[in-house]
Order: sequence, then structure tokens, then C-alpha cells
Amino acid sequence: MAKRQFDLILFGATGFTGGLTAAYLAAHAPASLRWALAGRSVRKLAEVKRRLAQAYPRCESLGLVQADSFDARALARMAESTQVVISTVGPYIHYGEALVAACAERGTHYVDLTGEPEFVELCLQKYDAVARSSGAKIINCCGFDSIPHDLGVLFTVLQCPPDVPIRIRGFVRVSMGISGGTWHSAVHAFSRLRHYVRLRRQRGAVAPADGRRVKALMQGVHYEPQLRKWAVPFPTIDPQVVRRSARALDCYGPDFGYAHYLEVKRLPLVLATAAGASTVFALAQFKPTRQWLLSRKAVGDGPDPQRRARSWFRVRFMANAGGHPIRTQVSGGDPGYDETAKMLSEAALCLLQDNTPPVAGVITPAAALGEALIHRLQRAGMRFETQWTRRKQVKT
Ligand SMILES: NC(=O)c1ccc[n+]([C@@H]2O[C@H](COP(=O)([O-])OP(=O)(O)OC[C@H]3O[C@@H](n4cnc5c(N)ncnc54)[C@H](OP(=O)(O)O)[C@@H]3O)[C@@H](O)[C@H]2O)c1
Repeated sequence: MAKRQFDLILFGATGFTGGLTAAYLAAHAPASLRWALAGRSVRKLAEVKRRLAQAYPRCESLGLVQADSFDARALARMAESTQVVISTVGPYIHYGEALVAACAERGTHYVDLTGEPEFVELCLQKYDAVARSSGAKIINCCGFDSIPHDLGVLFTVLQCPPDVPIRIRGFVRVSMGISGGTWHSAVHAFSRLRHYVRLRRQRGAVAPADGRRVKALMQGVHYEPQLRKWAVPFPTIDPQVVRRSARALDCYGPDFGYAHYLEVKRLPLVLATAAGASTVFALAQFKPTRQWLLSRKAVGDGPDPQRRARSWFRVRFMANAGGHPIRTQVSGGDPGYDETAKMLSEAALCLLQDNTPPVAGVITPAAALGEALIHRLQRAGMRFETQWTRRKQVKT
């Protein structure tokens, strides 16, 4: 792989999150990194490169790669020319599959930002075996979905005594705006829930090969006295990613359970949040109302720098490890965009530069990048905090 023309290609550099990711890499990647911007319009790519080079003159030498996400040949050439592809081209269920196929077949590592359960399921069912045999690491969900949750739970597990049952509950709070691309991906995911459920059924039940138990913990809306907040079950892709990591990594112990909640201050807000989400879900089911929803936010747009500067996130984890209570927290700035660009870029750099577990296939961030990525993100300013410091080794 080292003989390939590039170390890293960023596909989707002309989009909102792609642009922020390009800027993060320009500011933070090592000078020796051989990287390129990719997308369907060379004109737009040249404009992104021009802007980057104004702030970072070494970006004059950036490569530009033209590829459309429906052009299998161009994607194959792109995958063959690099060690790692970052993709910010979404909604992934519409634009993502051919690139994953190209990377899985050519042994090229791949990271993306999807939070779409149907797309991840498709990758698992169609490309896991292909990637295992080529040695490719296909790592979905390397943004706010699901790195703080997936790595936050790994970080919590690493504070637990070994070989005891572990129960962890995660409580998420965010303040953020969202981009057109995120809005479109969410509306399409809502409208395709039935497709996802049908696809998921085809894979059937999954359990760790070594007889360990991994399960979803269930509890409805409730008041959490320790946090002095209401906890609302939060059915994002994050708890699924956490459970996949728990099945892959034996440090999660013989019997592991995880529950995922949104933390809400006041009961009326719980009701307003539920009513808002149900309305969007219902409107997404029918073509005319779905088109109306999609027209509310233009693709390519996103929160401005002032809004992003005011944005933040915090995920608190409460664990019970064989009777020992453990509390940890992961927090940072603008979750959807500035921190997402950081998480995605650091995941790609971690693949290139760090000692990561020798695994291949369609894998989660915690299973693929583990502690190495936690350390990178800590160095990059994201906070992983705990009152306990007992450490264990990650075994894959
Ligand atoms: N999970 C998370 O935490 C998180 C956070 C942020 C974003 N995301 C996801 O990331 C994705 C991008 O979001 P965004 O707001 O950055 O979207 P965006 O601004 O609309 O960008 C989309 C990108 O896709 C490109 N594209 C569209 N069709 C293409 C095609 N046929 N071939 C090649 N490229 C094509 C666009 O290129 P053009 O410029 O040529 O149109 C653009 O570069 C969304 O799926 C969103 O949900 C996830």
C-alpha cells in the first residue's frame, strides 16, 4: 500500500462537512502526508484547493481527483491510488455503496460519517467478507455518530475490573445547528425505516463467537436523580455501534449491556422533543410531505462559524461493573461539524500512523482504532474524563 500514489483521499471535499475536514487536515496533518481532494466537479475542487492554499501554502501541491459516486471505474481508480479514503458524500444510502465496494475489493481503508443504519447494515452484509479477504478496514460512523459514544464506552470499560458483568448507560446533551446534508440524510433514513428493518432481519441474531453476552438495556422515559435530568431513550445508530464493539472486543466482559438516552432538563421539553421527532418521522413517510421537508434545508449549507462556536456536546456514562459504580464523561465543541471534522480526520490519520489492532472487514471505530484514537482525540482537545484510573489492555 505504501507504493500507492496517495496516503489519503478526501472524497466530498466540496461539501459543507468535507470543506471543514479539508481545512482540519490542512491545519493538522503532517507535512509529509501525500493527500488529495476528490469530488465530481474539478472546478469546485480547484476552488477548495485555492482557498486552502491561501491559508496553508503547502496545499498548493494537493492532488485533485475527479470521481462521481455512480462511476464505478473512477471509484476503482481512486481506491487503487490511495491507502485511505475519507468519504463525506451523503446521504450514504444514495451515494455510498459503490465506493465501499471499490475500497473493500482493493484493500483500501475507508472511513465515513454515516449515521444511517440501513447503509451500515448494507456494508456489513455485502462487504464485510470482501474486506476481510482484501485486508481493508471499512469503518463507518466516524463522526459525532458514533465516536464519542463508541469510544466513550470503550474508555469506560477500560476503567472497569476485568471479567465482571458490565452495565453502562450513556446520557447525551448537545447544543448545535445542523447542515442540509445531515437533514437530507435524516429525512431519507426516516422514510426508509421499513427497508432497514427488512434488511436487518436477513442477518438474524448476532452474538459474540466466544459465548459472551451483549444486550440492549431497556428503560423508558424516566427521571435520573443522579443527573437531576430527564432521560429519554435515544434510538440513534450509536447504541448499535456500541454493541457491535462489545461483541468484537473481549475487554467488554462476559455479560455487557448498554442503554442510550438523551438528557433533557424539563418534562415539557421531553414532550416537545418527542412530538417534533414523531412529526418529522410521519411527514417523511409520504413523497409530497417528504419533498416539503427536504426543501426546508439546502444541501451544501450548514451552521455558520458563530453558531458552531456556541455549540457543544457532553455524553455522561454511568457504569456498574460487577457492583462497582464508575462515571465517565466525553465532551467537546460543535459536535456535528467542527468536532466531526476532527474525529473523521484523526480516524484516518490514526489508520495511517498509529499501531492499530490487526483486524479487517466492516468494523466499528472502537474495534478498529481503539485506544490509539482516544489518545489522538485527547491530544486534539476532546475531553475523556474519569474519576477512576484503573487500566486494562484492549484485546481483539
Ligand atoms: N454522523 C455525523 O455526525 C455527521 C456529521 C456531519 C455530516 N454527516 C453526514 O455527512 C454527509 C454530508 O453532509 P454535508 O452536510 O457535508 O453534505 P453536503 O454539504 O450536501 O455535501 C455533500 C457532498 O457530496 C457530494 N456529492 C453529491 N452527489 C455526488 C455524486 N453523485 N458524486 C460525487 N459527489 C457527490 C457533493 O458534491 P458537489 O459539491 O459537487 O455537489 C458534496 O461534496 C451527510 O450524509 C450527513 O448526514 C454526518
